[in-house]
Amino acid sequence: MTASGDAATVMRRCDVLGTFGEEPGRLTRPFASPAMVQVHEYVTSWMREAGMAVRKDNVGNLLGRYEGVDGGSSTLILGSHLDSVRDAGRYDGPLGVMVAIAAVQRLHDSASRLPFAIEVVGFADEEGLRYGTPYLGSRALAGTFAVTDLTHMDAQGVSLADAIRTFGGDPARLAADRWHGGNLLGYVEVHIEQGPVLEARDLPVGIVSAINGQARYRLTFTGEAAHAGTTPMNRRRDALVAAAEFILVVEAEARETEGLVATVGQLAVSPGAVNVVPGQAVLSLDVRHADDKIRLERSSRLLQGAREIAARRGLSVESEPVAENRSVPCSPRLAALLEQAVQELGHPALTLGSGAGHDAVVMAGITDVAMLFVRCKGGISHNPAESVTEEDVAVAIDVLGKFLELSATKS
Ligand code: HGY
Ligand code: MN
Ligand code: MN
Repeated sequence: MTASGDAATVMRRCDVLGTFGEEPGRLTRPFASPAMVQVHEYVTSWMREAGMAVRKDNVGNLLGRYEGVDGGSSTLILGSHLDSVRDAGRYDGPLGVMVAIAAVQRLHDSASRLPFAIEVVGFADEEGLRYGTPYLGSRALAGTFAVTDLTHMDAQGVSLADAIRTFGGDPARLAADRWHGGNLLGYVEVHIEQGPVLEARDLPVGIVSAINGQARYRLTFTGEAAHAGTTPMNRRRDALVAAAEFILVVEAEARETEGLVATVGQLAVSPGAVNVVPGQAVLSLDVRHADDKIRLERSSRLLQGAREIAARRGLSVESEPVAENRSVPCSPRLAALLEQAVQELGHPALTLGSGAGHDAVVMAGITDVAMLFVRCKGGISHNPAESVTEEDVAVAIDVLGKFLELSATKS
């Protein structure tokens, strides 16, 4: 099968998976959802077609294993995530899993075995859409799943433990999902860039140098609900106005700090009636930077700013850390092999940082990691307009195939 044949298959499969979501008219595929059950049916059959033995672990990762020569004592893990954000694009996550399956399909079609096994993982939850805490799938595989998270409730009041049970897993046995398959050669993830660099440089793929650290917080501004018609402006303790002032402070801080991005993506106002001064505003805060020291320092400045705004307006504010992941460098050894693969296929090998988080951040806890970015149109992602070209996907499959070849000669 030619690369374009593979790439056409990958594109078609991303289209198919993109039809499985929980919300009408848009792609929203949360952790352990019925849509994820449908995705698992298709991905399982595609993994089996590529000669892989398939299993699902307790947290809901889907793992396909392609044995190496005489059992292959070491394993290389490939993959990405199968969950999505709300109103997502179809490539963020699934593209990496489909490209990995295509690379294994090629080995299977040519009856080739490598001196190591390959495991392709479709992670259960990278985005953290349903429970707020990202990387549930990779943390289970890396053995860093926080059992305290099991009591987290989703918007419908379903605990994480119950969601795992409903999806067919046993929350009491998550520790058994930690990788115990012997020596790991590394974890390599193909992913859309979700940024503008490759397009600006007119390159199909790029090699990731490091993944920026990120922290997520939840802030609750509490004032006093009051009558919109009878409460004078100077007697209000309006939680939404305080939150609005804070949101502008977040934007200003990030604009003024080189390399810092900070986002308020969620805001819930209560009681949420037209004629009631908001008594409470709950918002999310996502802060990222390549340098953890700068990120931590700016995050605490922002939280201090929230306290000052609340005090000045006669409100209270609570901030709760939700998730924190430090900046992760990719493995020079694996990145060099990716670079050699890109160059041997005739493309310039650009190295770039990742502003987005990825399961590789967590997998770095148990093995060397590397990532290959694929150009995406306008750098748009976390948006249904997300798109890649078949030609660039063909390059990504070729690079991954060449990477496997080079890894085989080195192992
Ligand atoms: O938020 C991120 O960076 C990733 O898409 N989960
Ligand atoms: Mn992703
Ligand atoms: Mn994403």
